[in-house]
Amino acid sequence: MEWAFSHASHVGGPCCDNAEMDAIWDHLLLDCTLATLTGDSGYGLIGHGAIGWRDGTIEFAGPMSALQGNPETLAARVESMHGALVTPGLIDCHTHLVFGGDRANEFEMRLNGANYEAIARAGGGILSSVSATRAASEDELFAQSLPRAQALLSDGVTTLEIKSGYGLDLDTELKMLRVARRIGAKLGITVRTTFLGLHALPPEFRERRDDYVSMVCDEWLPVVAQNGLADAVDAFCEGIAFTPDEVQRYFEAARKLGLRVKLHADQLSDLGGATLAASFDGLSADHLECTDEAGVEAMARAGTVAVLLPGSYYALCETRAPPVSAMREHHVPIAIATDLNPGTSPLRSLRLGMSMACTLFRLTPAEALRGATVNAARALGLGDRGVLAVGQRADVVAWGVQKPAELAYWIGGALAARIFAGGSEVHA
Ligand code: NIG
Ligand code: FE
Repeated sequence: MEWAFSHASHVGGPCCDNAEMDAIWDHLLLDCTLATLTGDSGYGLIGHGAIGWRDGTIEFAGPMSALQGNPETLAARVESMHGALVTPGLIDCHTHLVFGGDRANEFEMRLNGANYEAIARAGGGILSSVSATRAASEDELFAQSLPRAQALLSDGVTTLEIKSGYGLDLDTELKMLRVARRIGAKLGITVRTTFLGLHALPPEFRERRDDYVSMVCDEWLPVVAQNGLADAVDAFCEGIAFTPDEVQRYFEAARKLGLRVKLHADQLSDLGGATLAASFDGLSADHLECTDEAGVEAMARAGTVAVLLPGSYYALCETRAPPVSAMREHHVPIAIATDLNPGTSPLRSLRLGMSMACTLFRLTPAEALRGATVNAARALGLGDRGVLAVGQRADVVAWGVQKPAELAYWIGGALAARIFAGGSEVHA
């Protein structure tokens, strides 16, 4: 069957407006190269595809030839994409983008010979961002952080996770989580918040580690949970941060409150973090450069997602890559995130993170795209997004390219042409 329909001049061009007619969908994109990401591997590609949604939910995603009736009349807005690649909105499942100040000075120090752990032990590192974050008012923190979220959005991110962890006192942690939520509301995208209570030992507790851990577990976690400010909890399990025993206590407290866990695991040394996260049915274990095969097997059994963070590997000039072959062999789902933070990963593009995952960790472009969509959704416990299929949220990006490999192939720049979140067009 063939239909005649007027072609808009380019992606983003005018479309027909059927608002007065009995259109069944709000918006229909025609002549798309759909990367649906459905199926267990690959892009789930549909050439000459169409996608339609109503009330923020996808109601059609398939070949144009399967549309019933004249496509021009099926939606209030109908547009031709002229073959443009259309994917689910990208999902950045690990960021620390709410923070005060920056740490460009430490980048310089490291390139003059200092190392990350030594800077942290000397009171810099995370603690220097803690001072700046505590000092900023809520509005200042919002104003400083919003452009970072806008940068991610402008190249296709419609869901992002933001962690606390630069407050390390209850008021500042809550302030960070509120700012994170406010960013989502302002931009019209989904922000999932994670309470990162065990990120670093605050200076005022230097001689009282146990007191700090107890306070976080017994006093702060219940407040965070009661205020509904966190969707999950996270910790930094590392020689310069918290021990596996401390993390275990914290995870037990989280579990009692019904909060799912994530973990900064095995980044600089192998403390068995991947296995620890898996033993709590963790949503994800993140970093994983030093994880051994037993850790990968434990993640496979628990269904814990491996979140790879090539930005911090790159910025710290690391040389030990995460065990990607073992992850593939054991069928551990792999996600990619920016880890956007002031210290180890000032990376403001998830698509650039996908490119780095390919060149530095040897992921295929299809694995990288799955890592920034379907597997990233899973790392956040979200079942309503990450693929283009009927019933999913209409988080949809049309790109200024036609082939899915181009998303990881072009290094930097912005390629997103049209960005929809929950069915509405969102602008950076
Ligand atoms: O994911 N590892 C801990 N947290 C961040 C770094 C934090 C910082 O240095 O500010 C990370 O790499
Ligand atoms: Fe991180």
